[in-house]
Amino acid sequence: MEGVIYLDHAATSWPKPPAVGEAMMKALDVAGANPGRGSHRMAVQASRVLFGARKAISTLLGVRNANDIALGSNTTEALNLAIQGWLREGDHVIATMAEHNSVRRPLEYMRRSRNVEVDYVPVNVAGVIDLVQFARMLRPNTRLVVCTHSSNLLGSILPIGEIALMCQKHQVTLLVDAAQSAGILPVDVKQLGIDMLAFPGHKGLLGPQGTGGLYIAPELDVQPLLHGGTGSQSEAIEQPLVRPDRYEAGTPNTVGIAGLAAGVQHVLELTPEFIYKQEWDLTQHMMHGLSSVQGIRMLGPELGQPRTGLLSFTVEGYDSAQLAFQLDRNYGIAVRSGFHCTPLAHESAGTTASGAVRASVGYNTTKDDVNALVEAVIELTTSKPV
Ligand code: ALA
Repeated sequence: MEGVIYLDHAATSWPKPPAVGEAMMKALDVAGANPGRGSHRMAVQASRVLFGARKAISTLLGVRNANDIALGSNTTEALNLAIQGWLREGDHVIATMAEHNSVRRPLEYMRRSRNVEVDYVPVNVAGVIDLVQFARMLRPNTRLVVCTHSSNLLGSILPIGEIALMCQKHQVTLLVDAAQSAGILPVDVKQLGIDMLAFPGHKGLLGPQGTGGLYIAPELDVQPLLHGGTGSQSEAIEQPLVRPDRYEAGTPNTVGIAGLAAGVQHVLELTPEFIYKQEWDLTQHMMHGLSSVQGIRMLGPELGQPRTGLLSFTVEGYDSAQLAFQLDRNYGIAVRSGFHCTPLAHESAGTTASGAVRASVGYNTTKDDVNALVEAVIELTTSKPV
């Protein structure tokens, strides 16, 4: 879209690499049949599209067997599959105060419907957790730890490696929410010992919306969320146990997944290390620039500390929603305000009443884009309150 300075990559990345749209158009044309539901050449071509995406994602995440990746619509679906499919009546779960509603709501649903007990580890204002406090919450019936890799409000990076070690020591399953980190922070699920990892296709993996998935370690007997047609073992009454069919009932989003494969390929070429460094440099530049704004409070890690490519802030005397509205209306700058579907993180940051403005960058954001935001915020906050 012409004239937009897009600083909302934490919600969805934009623009996508041209190869993403091209792959989708091509899939509609040459792989537009139903994958796994026939032996004709177009159906086989559609199956190849799915397998290609699984392979590319496996390479990126250090997954040994591509069939351990269940493709679906988004991270929320993946997290629901993991949480509802793994927990049993009376289990105990530890999550963190940095979690998104896509974790909190299914957990609270499990608390109400299945007597699951849930504890949330506090995070401090910088989005950091205390691992000792985390370990103290472990109980004999703790069966799952759910942890975001990076807070979608604070940008802090949680110590997944240490948490994975703690989970292994206590034989607790670890589910990582990689909504803000897949494609941006290097991850090797096998090396780190991550049992399940939920990822979006449309953020750091640069694919289209309506795509995402869940890595499930081969030894985990997670129950499917959906039961139905898989194109395999059609005579069986029960959902087949074979992966990925067990978790992929119904016709998939083949066209979207073709785009996702192209996005992941782009990430593999650039490398997550490069993408992280680009985004970190841009957020540091943003923090430097915004530090001159009177009354600003920047949330999350201090300048110079690791963080993913987002910065949330409040300005004393200015309404966050109004600031975001004016940024869009008067300057064509797209940011996200409000509560970012993470009331627990806002509670930790002390922004429950005010909400915050969140600006988030992609690897292809420029310093000029960031400068435009800084100048606009300065102008808006030196004129009369909005
Ligand atoms: N979870 C996305 C965000 O943080 C949509 O904006």
